[in-house]
Amino acid sequence: MSSVMQKLLTPVASGPAEPPRNKVTVVGVGMVGMACAVSVLLRLKYLCNVFMFYFTPAKYYAVTANSRIVVVSAGVRQQEGESRLNLVQRNVNIFKHIIPQIVKHSPNCTLIVVSNPVDVLTYVTWKLSGLPKHRVIGSGTNLDSARFRFLMAERLGIHASSFNGWVLGEHGDTSVPVWSGVNVAGVNLQKLNPEFGLDGDKEDWKATHKAVVDSAYEVIKLKGYTNWAIGLSVADLTESIIKNMSRIHPVSTMVKDMYGIGEEVFLSLPCVLNSNGVGSVINMTLTDAEVGQLKKSADTLWGIQKDLKDI
Ligand SMILES: *[C@@H]1O[C@H](CO)[C@@H](O)[C@H](O)[C@H]1NC(C)=O
Ligand SMILES: *[C@@H]1O[C@H](CO)[C@@H](O)[C@H](O)[C@H]1NC(C)=O
Ligand SMILES: *[C@@H]1O[C@H](CO)[C@@H](O)[C@H](O)[C@H]1NC(C)=O
Repeated sequence: MSSVMQKLLTPVASGPAEPPRNKVTVVGVGMVGMACAVSVLLRLKYLCNVFMFYFTPAKYYAVTANSRIVVVSAGVRQQEGESRLNLVQRNVNIFKHIIPQIVKHSPNCTLIVVSNPVDVLTYVTWKLSGLPKHRVIGSGTNLDSARFRFLMAERLGIHASSFNGWVLGEHGDTSVPVWSGVNVAGVNLQKLNPEFGLDGDKEDWKATHKAVVDSAYEVIKLKGYTNWAIGLSVADLTESIIKNMSRIHPVSTMVKDMYGIGEEVFLSLPCVLNSNGVGSVINMTLTDAEVGQLKKSADTLWGIQKDLKDI
């Protein structure tokens, strides 16, 4: 007696099915992990499978095998009065267990780190993974830049996609808006007003960057956490990698030896994302003041990283 399956299906290929090509795993099932998984699924509907995954017992990591991309959203949040170093160390202790397991099962994956403080934790992930630097990316200022473009364009009465501006460096309060490069249709706005975005600017364009920084706090005040915007941002990055698009995103990458930075730190610079992960970094023309801001962030981050234990 043949089964329903045997009656229904005439086999054509023999042997086991090939491993999946576009599998995406999201580690961490909090609000951010959920938003990342849903956003990636909606963006890349028929192109990939997304697995959400709660991290702990090592035996379960087998379900993540052969992932193309692993989004790391696991980790603990800052407690009231807790120092940044203490928060990072607590996350190191978690990442120490999950990152080697992920890489063991998906040795060729690209890791996208989302957990905060994202630049330090991207460094930690890179160290723990042993992967080449082009395969470890932090979501960085991709979201800060999107918010910046939206608010600047709104003030100018144009669509956000027609506004060219980049927020680089450290994700969050000390991110660096590259005012010297801001342009619309190739018209450099600092050429129209040399003080554009700077302290003496009577039109106070700087306030827009402050609004970008404040927006996360605003959302946290209203609903307790942020998740959808970062989810959509991660979907963007995932799409560029899976579709090998070579689109340029400001994401956190290893910046040692760039702009005179001497330590192994991760900061956001415009990166070409393709199937290799970070294919290349754009050597952006920055003013001395902007380079100074990047270096200052690098020093702050190294100040934390050098005291971390067990990585
Ligand atoms: C990883 O990539 C290398 C080189 O492209 C390949 O030889 C190897 O089979 C891949 N490993 C897995 C588990 O896909
Ligand atoms: C990705 O695109 C580049 C050119 O844009 C091409 O040379 C390369 O072969 C592509 N890689 C894959 C895996 O399709
Ligand atoms: C990047 O551009 C600057 C000038 O804007 C130049 O001095 C520097 O050498 C360039 N870096 C590389 C790696 O080409």
